[in-house]
Amino acid sequence: MTHSAYVFDAYGTLFDVHAAVRRHAERVGPDYVRFSEMWRAKQLEYSWVRALMGAYADFWQLTEEALDHCLDRMPSIDRGLRADLLKAYWVLDCYPEVPAVLRGLKARGARIAILSNGSPSMLAAAVKNAALDAVIDDVFSVDDLRTYKTAPQVYDLVATSYRVYPSAVSFQSSNRWDIAGAKKFGFRTVWINRTGMPDEYRDLPPDLILPSLDSLPEHA
Ligand code: LAC
Repeated sequence: MTHSAYVFDAYGTLFDVHAAVRRHAERVGPDYVRFSEMWRAKQLEYSWVRALMGAYADFWQLTEEALDHCLDRMPSIDRGLRADLLKAYWVLDCYPEVPAVLRGLKARGARIAILSNGSPSMLAAAVKNAALDAVIDDVFSVDDLRTYKTAPQVYDLVATSYRVYPSAVSFQSSNRWDIAGAKKFGFRTVWINRTGMPDEYRDLPPDLILPSLDSLPEHA
């Protein structure tokens, strides 16, 4: 094992952020994919803007505010869905390969953790719903720091807590901007390019690019 800890981004990497809208796709209507993408994009925009301003509000509040904005922008979508969509966000599906991959890495002696913008209660609910409690050793939330990725102190939460050099941590994220932040901090970075996106942040390249977490153990 070349890395002592395998640390995973939560939303989009372990948990499918589009599962909430997909679950109610019929009621949302034909624009459900665009709606879900807009919801996610706004949620992230709010995190970056608030981090820069130093005006932290937790990720759940941002998730609610982003949804409200999207419902205002797409008035054809029934506002009555608001509560159901928010409820679904607490029980997002994990990607199918996640449980076996995490179990395999843990069996080889690595520590397994989440490092996420999510609030501690959102993350606890998602982990429990996906039955990943037994395999995940630690859940690090930005909430302790009251800022968001890609602030370097977020990535430092892991290095400081584990008392390891950043290079001893393998960090996996499907979010290319998160990989840029983690690379800048010094983690070994694995971009899980689930949607076949072109590369960006060229000065901060991932150490490895995989289409899913499936083959991660081969590159451990
Ligand atoms: C997270 C978001 C960025 O889990 O996906 O941190």
